[in-house]
Order: sequence, then structure tokens, then C-alpha cells
Amino acid sequence: MTEAKFTPRVFSGIKPSGGLTLGNYLGAIKRFVGMQGPAFETIYCVVDLHAITVWQDPVDLRNATREVAAGYLAAGIDPAKSVLFNQSQVHEHAELGWIFNCVARVGWMNRMTQFKEKAGANAEKQSLGLYAYPSLMAADILLYHATHVPVGEDQKQHVELTRDIAAKFNHDYKVDFFPLTTPVIDGPATRVMNLRDGTKKMSKSGESDMERINMTDDADTISKKLKKARTDAAPLPEKVEGLEGRPEAQNLVDIFAALSDMTPEAVIAEHGGAGWGTFKPLLADLAVEKLAPISGEMARLMADPAEIDRILGQGAEKARAIAAPVLKRTYDIVGMLRN
Ligand code: TRP
Repeated sequence: MTEAKFTPRVFSGIKPSGGLTLGNYLGAIKRFVGMQGPAFETIYCVVDLHAITVWQDPVDLRNATREVAAGYLAAGIDPAKSVLFNQSQVHEHAELGWIFNCVARVGWMNRMTQFKEKAGANAEKQSLGLYAYPSLMAADILLYHATHVPVGEDQKQHVELTRDIAAKFNHDYKVDFFPLTTPVIDGPATRVMNLRDGTKKMSKSGESDMERINMTDDADTISKKLKKARTDAAPLPEKVEGLEGRPEAQNLVDIFAALSDMTPEAVIAEHGGAGWGTFKPLLADLAVEKLAPISGEMARLMADPAEIDRILGQGAEKARAIAAPVLKRTYDIVGMLRN
């Protein structure tokens, strides 16, 4: 498959389930902002259809959808440069998702580690949607013929499955229609960890609020949480290799690096040997400088939900202008009759 056949186009999405954390910001939104520009067309989505794979209270879901949109906007996603919308307003996602349910194999889904982790011993009690979720994700991406998908490490397997679906579709129908999308996994903070346990991912649903930084946290809260973050007793190592086996230290260095657009190597070159009493206040100040303006802007945006809804509605129209012809063509390829 030649890359040149397809316009360089980025697609990514965030689920509106619970609030946004520093993990969403550093691992996703900040990188999405960085990809806006002449090199790519950029399409960013609030994937509400994915959120209901586990129960969501309807009122909370609508609020969370607006909050993710506000997070995107506050962090610098510009509706004049990117298509920004919520998934359910473009019905083509669900329709292509169905076609892909008929392309993907049960055996492929059975290999998805995220489902296994989420479902645990209770797989039988999960929604069928949670199990089939990766084929809807493939539809999100391929509906726009997206060539690049910035995601965290945990989504790599789903993007590989997207490639498998595209390849099987192209093969079965003898076409060269869907691109083989490249996952873009870069930067030091594609996996931001829990501030109380550096072996667990920072999650929006963990029991203690001290284990995460929310994108809506104010300056004092951000500072307090970072200063109280768990660490081991040793100072920062003199070389990055010294972070191995020290998950909390690794995480704080990665967060510092991502916030300051440095590599972890450069952070260690500057701060190696420092004790936590020195490094944590520096990290806290840096985080406040970068994040407090965003949380302030989110609060301002959230005070005017009608404006957010208007932006998402306009984005949905732009998205549909790309998606509708791709779905029509797919239906033609598959043999669906239409006038
Ligand atoms: N599965 C992603 C997550 O849980 C969210 C998502 C849905 C997504 N559709 C996508 C990400 C398409 C990238 C591209 O984080």
C-alpha cells in the first residue's frame, strides 16, 4: 500500500467517562495540539459511543462530553484548524462499525489485552459493546482514511487491529480502499502513572483524588498533589538508567520532561543528584505554570455549555462531509443496494 494515495490525516479520540487527568493531557491532548499544522489534517473526537460500553448516567455523560470538548479547546485545539466533534453526531461511525464487526474475527477480539484487563474474571457479565469496542475504534479511524493515530501505549494493540481489519477488508473485496494506519506513540508521557503507586496508570476512576491530577484542578491542588506524590528515599540518579526499577521516580521525571518539552535524559542531566525536597517544588511550579491556565480556561468554557454544543455541532458537519462519502463507497464495495 502506498502512503501517497492517502492525504496525511490524523484521527484520535478520548472517551467522556469521568473527568480528564494529566494523563489525558500529556499522553493525548498536548500531542494532538502539536500535530495541528500544515503537515496533517487533524480530526479530534469525543468518543461518546465508546463511553457507554460501561454504564454511564445520561446526565453525567452529557457533562463529561462537554468537559472533554472544553479540555481539547482549553489546551489549544483550534476549531479553525482541526475538526472537533462528538462521535454520536456522525452516525456513520456506528454504521461502519457494524461492517467491521463482520470483517473482524472473534479470535482477534479474544487477544485484546485491554478487554481481558477490564473484564477480569467477569467477562460474561460485560456488555457485548465492550468486547466489540476495537472494531468501532477501527471504524472511527478508517471512516476518515486516517493515516496517523496518536495514542498511548495501551491503545497500540487496537491500532494494530485496525490495520488487520483494513487489510482483510481490502483483501476480501479485492480493493485498495482503506489505508494501513500508523500508530504514533512518542514522547516521555505516553503513560502517566498514578501519583501514589507508580506501577499503576493514572486513572480517572481510582479511589483517591490524590493519586491523579485532574485537568480541572486549580493551582493549589496541583501543587499539593505533586509535593505529596509518593517517591522512594533515594535522590534522583545521575543517569536515566538509574530510574529503572524506580517507577515513582521515573514517573515524576517523565511528567517533568513532558511538561517542559525536554527528554528525560535532559531532565536528569540538569537535576540528577537532586533530592525530592528540591525536585518536587520545581515540578510543582512547572505544572502550575503549564496547567493552571488550562484549568482556568476550561472553567470559563464550561460556564457556557451552549457555545461548546455549537462548536461540536459545527465540527460534526465537517466530519460528516468526509465520512459520508467513505461510508457510501464502503456500502457499494460490500454490495449494499442504494439508489
Ligand atoms: N480506545 C481509545 C481509548 O480508550 C479511545 C478511542 C476510540 C480512540 N476511538 C479512537 C483513540 C480512535 C484513537 C483513535 O483511549
